[in-house]
Amino acid sequence: MDRTLILVKPDAFARGLTGEILARFERKGLKIVALKLVQTSRETAETHYAEHKERPFFGELVDFITSAPLVAAVLEGQDVVKGSRQLIGATNPLEAATGSIRGDFAIEVGQNLVHGSDSPESSAREIGIWFPEL
Ligand code: TYD
Ligand code: MG
Repeated sequence: MDRTLILVKPDAFARGLTGEILARFERKGLKIVALKLVQTSRETAETHYAEHKERPFFGELVDFITSAPLVAAVLEGQDVVKGSRQLIGATNPLEAATGSIRGDFAIEVGQNLVHGSDSPESSAREIGIWFPEL
């Protein structure tokens, strides 16, 4: 069965949207196989977002992800990477479809509530970062 890495980012956790967000994945038929509350280190954040290292928003992105606790989860299910990205919606919440998590609850790209791996390769790499025991 396929797996993906989900982060309920600090903005969503602080707003009390963790249950709402996880419920949407569960309703889709995806199974939570690992779940934890994390205060993220800069090292972990920089490794997770390494592909964006040269982008102008990288520093702010790492500041944001490390600013407060987040909830990390591994979801399992058929085509889970594609299915969860569809539920999450476009990176810019103003372009995310209504009915998606970002489309329904977010406005700013820098506070877009949730991360989901973008490919099976990313998923394997990211699960290794957040849940090395899996
Ligand atoms: P990216 O991997 O492109 O988006 P996604 O989360 O949909 O996979 O970017 C990672 C995060 O970086 C994104 O969720 C929010 C932040 N970001 C910005 O702050 N500004 C930007 O212009 C972009 C593209 C991303
Ligand atoms: Mg991404």
